[in-house]
Amino acid sequence: MRFILLTALCFGATTWAQLSAVTSFLATEGPIAKVGLLANIGGSGSKSAGVKAGIVIASPSKSSPDYFYTWTRDSSLVFKAVIDSFVRGEDASLRTQIDQYVASQAVQQQVSNPSGTVSSGGLGEPKFNVDLSAFTGGWGRPQRDGPALRATALIAYGNWLIANSNTTFALSTIWPIVKLDLDYVASNWNQTGFDLWEEVNSSSFFTTAVQHRALREGAAFATKLGQTSVVSGYTSQATNTLCFLQSYWNPTAGYVTANTGGGRSGKDANTALASLHTFDPSAGCDAATFQPCSDKALSSLKVYVDSFRSIYTVNSGIAATDAVATGRYPEDSYYGGNPWYLTTLAVAEQLYDALTVWKAQGSLNVTAVSLPFFQQFNSTIAVGTYPSTSAIFTTLTTAVYNFADSFVAVVQKYTPSGGALAEQYTRAAGVPTSAADLTWSYASVLTAAAARNGLTGDSWGAKGLVVPSSCSTSGSGSGSGSSGTVAVTFNVVATTVYGENIYLTGSVDALQNWSPTNAMILSPANYPTWSITVNLPANSAIQYKYIRKYNGATTWLADPNNQLSTGASGAATVNDQWR
Ligand SMILES: *[C@@H]1O[C@H](CO)[C@@H](O)[C@H](O)[C@H]1NC(C)=O
Ligand SMILES: *[C@@H]1O[C@H](CO)[C@@H](O)[C@H](O)[C@H]1NC(C)=O
Ligand SMILES: *[C@@H]1O[C@H](CO)[C@@H](O)[C@H](O)[C@H]1NC(C)=O
Ligand SMILES: *[C@@H]1O[C@H](CO)[C@@H](O)[C@H](O)[C@H]1NC(C)=O
Ligand SMILES: *[C@@H]1O[C@H](CO)[C@@H](O)[C@H](O)[C@H]1NC(C)=O
Repeated sequence: MRFILLTALCFGATTWAQLSAVTSFLATEGPIAKVGLLANIGGSGSKSAGVKAGIVIASPSKSSPDYFYTWTRDSSLVFKAVIDSFVRGEDASLRTQIDQYVASQAVQQQVSNPSGTVSSGGLGEPKFNVDLSAFTGGWGRPQRDGPALRATALIAYGNWLIANSNTTFALSTIWPIVKLDLDYVASNWNQTGFDLWEEVNSSSFFTTAVQHRALREGAAFATKLGQTSVVSGYTSQATNTLCFLQSYWNPTAGYVTANTGGGRSGKDANTALASLHTFDPSAGCDAATFQPCSDKALSSLKVYVDSFRSIYTVNSGIAATDAVATGRYPEDSYYGGNPWYLTTLAVAEQLYDALTVWKAQGSLNVTAVSLPFFQQFNSTIAVGTYPSTSAIFTTLTTAVYNFADSFVAVVQKYTPSGGALAEQYTRAAGVPTSAADLTWSYASVLTAAAARNGLTGDSWGAKGLVVPSSCSTSGSGSGSGSSGTVAVTFNVVATTVYGENIYLTGSVDALQNWSPTNAMILSPANYPTWSITVNLPANSAIQYKYIRKYNGATTWLADPNNQLSTGASGAATVNDQWR
C-alpha cells in the first residue's frame, strides 16, 4: 500500500470548482456506496434477507431484471474492494463479513452445478442461488474469470493474515480455497468461455489478464506458505497467459480487442477494467501487463471513450476532448444499450492510478502509441520523457486529473439525489435503469475514490516480467508432469472431525522434507478420500507420511513410513488408508 499525495499538482483557477465539486460528491456518495454495498451481503445486509452469510447478491432486484443471485466475479471484485479497505485499516469491523465470505466460498466451491463438480470444471460456474444451491437454468457458462478473481481477493486477505501473525488461518483455511481456484486457472486458462458480460463465448482480455495476475501472485503466496510443489506449474502457466495476453493488442487501430470472438469492434470497458484490476503500483507503466499508465492502456482507453461520443444522446454537444458517459461497448443493446455507472467510473480510476505512478516515478513518457491520448490535452505535444520538474509534466498531469474528475462528474450528474446507484443510466436522458442498487456500482465508487486519493492495493509481481518470444500452452501445470518429474496423486481415506485437516510430507523437497509445518494440505473434495497431486522427481524411491492437524495439534500416521518409486515420466496414483 502506498499513499501518494498529489500536492505537487498545481490546479488552474478554472478547475478548482470542479475539483471541489467532485471532492464533495465523493465525500457524500462514498458513505452511501459503502452502506449500499454492505446491505447486499448476506448475514447482516439489510437488503439480503434469506441470503447465506458472506454471500454477495448482485442487486436486491428480483424482477426486471432478476439479479437476486450471487455471481463469483461480482462477489470477488466487491470483496477485493472490502479486503483492500480492511487491510488499509479503514474499518476493522469488515473482518466479520470477510470471514463469512471466506467460509461461504469454501462451501460454494464444492457445489456441483451445470459446469461440473469441484474437480471437473464446476469452479467455472458463473452464478449460484443465494442459498448456495446450484442455478440450473440456461446461462452463458462457463466463465473462467471467477476463480482467478476469487483467488486474488483471498490472497489479499491471506497476505494480511501472514503479516499479522496468523499464518495458521492463511494455510488452513485460505490456501485450500485459493489452491482449488488456481489449479482450475492453471488447467483451463487456454479454454474458451464466456466474457465478463456473459455474452461472447471465446477468449476475453479481462479473463486472461486476471488469470495471469492470479497465477503470478498465487505462486508467491504458495511459496510464503511453503506449498512449493505448485509454484513451477503456476509460474509456467502465468508466463503462457502473459504471452497470450499480448495477442489482444491491435497495433494498427491502437486498442486492446476485448474478445477473440463475438463479431464486434472489440472496443469495450473490459480492457479498462482489466487495467484497474491488474494494477500493480510497483510495475511502473509496463505495457506487457497493460498497466493503467502504459501507452497501450492509455491509447485503448481513448479509443474506448471516443466510441460513445456520438451514440448516446446524453453525450451530444460535449467537446471531443471532454469526458462523456461510457457504457460496456458501443454495440450494446441490453436494456437498449446504455452508459453504466461502473464503466464511467472505471475511466476515472484508470487515470487516477496512472497519475499515482507518474508522481511516484517522477516522470511521464509520451510514446508514439500514447501520443493520441496525450494530444487531447496538448495538441502539439511531442514524443518524449517529461520529468516532474518540467512545465509540460505539470500541464499534462493536471489535465489528466481534471479529465478523470470529469468522468466522476458525469456520474454525479446522473446520480439521483439519494445517492442510490443502479446498473445503468439511460443513453437518452441519463435516468437510472436496469437493476437498482447494483453492488458492483457501489464498489466502483469506493475504488475510484480510493484511487483518487492515491491509495492502491498491494503489488502482485507485475514488475519486470519478460514476455516469451513465442507462446506456448504447455508447462508443468499442477497435475501434469514436467520434464524430469512424475505427477503423483496421493489419495488417502481418512475420517476427520470438523476443522481437522490431512497433510502430506516426505523425504524430498517436493514433499517439504519431512516438515510438519510446511506439510501440504490435501483436498477433501471427495471426502472421506483426501487428495493432492504433486510433481515428484522421476526415477526415485520416496518415503512419505500423512499428518492430521486439529486445533494446533499435529498427529502423524503410525510407523512405518509409506514408500513409492516413481517411473521415468507421466503420472501415477497411490491409494492409502489412514491407519
Ligand atoms: C486468525 O484469523 C481468523 C480469521 O479471522 C480468526 O478467527 C483467528 O482468531 C485468528 N487467529 C489468531 C491467532 O489471531
Ligand atoms: C491458447 O493459447 C494459444 C497460445 O497462446 C493461443 O494461440 C490460443 O488462441 C489460446 N486459446 C484459447 C482458447 O485461449
Ligand atoms: C463455447 O465455445 C466452445 C468452443 O468453441 C464450444 O465447445 C462450446 O460448446 C461453446 N459453448 C456454448 C454454450 O455455446
Ligand atoms: C520512459 O521510457 C524510458 C525509455 O524508453 C524508460 O526507461 C522509462 O522507464 C520510461 N518511464 C516511464 C515513466 O514510463
Ligand atoms: C505543449 O507541447 C508543446 C510541445 O512539446 C510545448 O512547447 C508547450 O509548452 C506545451 N504546452 C503546455 C501548455 O504545456
